[in-house]
Amino acid sequence: MASNCINGKFLCTGFGLVDSQHNNFIKLLERIRSQIPSANKGEIDLILDELFLYSLYHFETEERLLEKYNLESFPKHLEQHREYTEKMEQFKIDCLLEKAELTLEIIEFLEQWLINHIKETDVIDFQAAQKIDDAKM
Ligand SMILES: [Fe+2]
Ligand SMILES: [Fe+2]
Repeated sequence: MASNCINGKFLCTGFGLVDSQHNNFIKLLERIRSQIPSANKGEIDLILDELFLYSLYHFETEERLLEKYNLESFPKHLEQHREYTEKMEQFKIDCLLEKAELTLEIIEFLEQWLINHIKETDVIDFQAAQKIDDAKM
């Protein structure tokens, strides 16, 4: 559904569930961006948990939807999800141990990563999946 897509068609996978999750993901990052300046350490740890869990949930949704298509690019897609998850996990631990701090720059980095991943990987793979579905009809 086009109304679910971020930036109109540009970042649209065409899979309603995935597009609405991308939308929620971006909204979550926007909310975090507004919370950072006033959040205390306990709140930051909760924010990071929420972000991490949403990433896991979203990646799992995509992987479950894509796995049946046997796309050549699927292993690379999985690898990107895994790398992001590992980085997030390490960052979460570093914040808990007070070795790192959640800043606006980090949220901007995560947002940029997400947008690039949607544009260069999600849209391409889901469009390829859609073509396979269309060919069966
Ligand atoms: Fe995605
Ligand atoms: Fe993805």
